[in-house]
Amino acid sequence: MNYSKRIEQALEEAVARAEAPGAPPKLAEAIRYAVFPGGARVRPHLCIAVAEATGGSAPGLVDSAAAAIELLHCASLVHDDLPCFDDADIRRGQPSVHKAYSEPLAVLAGDAMIIMAFEALARGGVAAPNRVGRLLTTISRSVGMPYGITAGQAWESEDHADLAEYHRAKTGSLFVAATTAGAQAAGADPHPWKALGDTLGEAYQVADDIRDVTSTEEELGKPLNQDSNLGRPSVVQEFGLDGAILKLEGLLTDAIDSIPSCEGRRGLQDLVRVQAKRLMPQCGARDRVMAHSV
Ligand code: IPE
Ligand code: IPE
Ligand code: MG
Ligand code: MG
Repeated sequence: MNYSKRIEQALEEAVARAEAPGAPPKLAEAIRYAVFPGGARVRPHLCIAVAEATGGSAPGLVDSAAAAIELLHCASLVHDDLPCFDDADIRRGQPSVHKAYSEPLAVLAGDAMIIMAFEALARGGVAAPNRVGRLLTTISRSVGMPYGITAGQAWESEDHADLAEYHRAKTGSLFVAATTAGAQAAGADPHPWKALGDTLGEAYQVADDIRDVTSTEEELGKPLNQDSNLGRPSVVQEFGLDGAILKLEGLLTDAIDSIPSCEGRRGLQDLVRVQAKRLMPQCGARDRVMAHSV
């Protein structure tokens, strides 16, 4: 089965469990809406790709870890779009969850998906119980305090935030979880995989900051110019557009080089190269911004 099929199937199993007879139907519907259709599914792809590259075992647990990571990501987006955070009306090209279902249901959908993620992991762990404890630690750390997504979002409520630390917590942490949990679920040593998660996560957030000013709302499927409108620290604000693009190029090269020697190194490097192409802004997009700024 290809990676996308494995991811969609594992997510479907988790979401279907929340739709059992007797469950509150609107919340069940809001959860499905937040997960399907997905976005790029980049984190679960990374998780499975690392597991496969190590040549490891327990694909069922790998898929559960990938689904858990994607559920946590989707939950973070639902909460991030709420009026008390970014107040974003669209996500993935359609009304964000609170717009489609109400604020209380969006808060609850995010909460439920966080719990569903850990349930998916616990269920997948039946295949290799001795790996579950470490996986739980890895994945919890990436979303909680002091260095996970929760901390990343909390920096927005502080008077001063270090840009690199803010990005590492709000985005990098889940990428590190994707690479290291992929290795752990497959029974391999996670440590050599941390650098790939770190650099790819940073690259991903730099690319997001660039797209926030160079893209169009149709391409992005979410509001434009969010960083400047909300006063968020961003790489473009700190280094300028050309500086941000240079930084992105460097990070993508570093990410490809950081892949440790293993059976599937070549294949994984090709996969990161495909992602890298997708992340680099098109020439037209950069020119459009430059034309506006003169
Ligand atoms: C959006 O993540 C939030 C960031 C960290 C940049 P994605 O760009 O991966 O969102 P989807 O899942 O593809 O919609
Ligand atoms: C999203 O950060 C990262 C999360 C923790 C949800 P942003 O607010 O920058 O991402 P987008 O632009 O809304 O996807
Ligand atoms: Mg935000
Ligand atoms: Mg946002």
